[in-house]
Amino acid sequence: MKIDVLTIFPEMFNPVTTDSMLGRAVRNGILDIRLTNIRDYTSDKHNKTDDYTFGGGGGMVMMPDPIFTALRHIGAEGKKVLYMSPRGKILDEQKVRELAGLDEFVILCGHYEGVDQRVLDYWNAEEVSIGDYVLTGGELPAMVLIDSVARFVPGVLGNKDSVTDESVYSGLLEYPHYTQPREYEGLQVPDVLLSGNHKKIDLWRFRESLIITKERRPDLFRKFIGDRGNLSKDEKKILDELLNQE
Ligand code: ADE
Repeated sequence: MKIDVLTIFPEMFNPVTTDSMLGRAVRNGILDIRLTNIRDYTSDKHNKTDDYTFGGGGGMVMMPDPIFTALRHIGAEGKKVLYMSPRGKILDEQKVRELAGLDEFVILCGHYEGVDQRVLDYWNAEEVSIGDYVLTGGELPAMVLIDSVARFVPGVLGNKDSVTDESVYSGLLEYPHYTQPREYEGLQVPDVLLSGNHKKIDLWRFRESLIITKERRPDLFRKFIGDRGNLSKDEKKILDELLNQE
């Protein structure tokens, strides 16, 4: 997968694109993350990328020309262009999976009051937010997006960390995990996890996922019970027990 990132702070991406899982995927050629410094496409001697907002009100806006020139230089015509912005639709798993299905896309990172609207209109940019809060720029949101999308790209995660486990009960929050030692500060690992009975373990995890989701994300829980069609008999029983406790 090829991801082009346009930013005025390309160096911010270095730790993310060189370390850990993503770094390995980049080295293995599974991910091709290309950073383009918008400032390299300015045409004045001060390398200016922003100017005052028309209509007053203060704040600076990123000018269209350096961004247009950079986008043309990387060959963004016809490609999906994302613009990280608190005004966008909030990134969720559905969008992440949709993006993971693309061979390539472009991410534009803004600063100050954002970019000139003509950039977004001309390049048909899709605005994406990572949450209802405002950050100082689009770089951290872009890294969040890249990381979440990369996890679905085959070969990025090792077997041990595969996403398949998480998608078994997709739509629910994860059950609790435990590792060695079996007892720590008087706190025990639940017996069922040491039982070796995988069916029992799966059902225990399913129940824990349901309990956590019901408590923390009633919206997800309601959605889950709405489409409970492909649950096994045992899973249905657990869900019914939980619903009857209400
Ligand atoms: N830029 C600034 N804040 C943002 C947010 N919450 N999501 C995406 N891009 C942003």
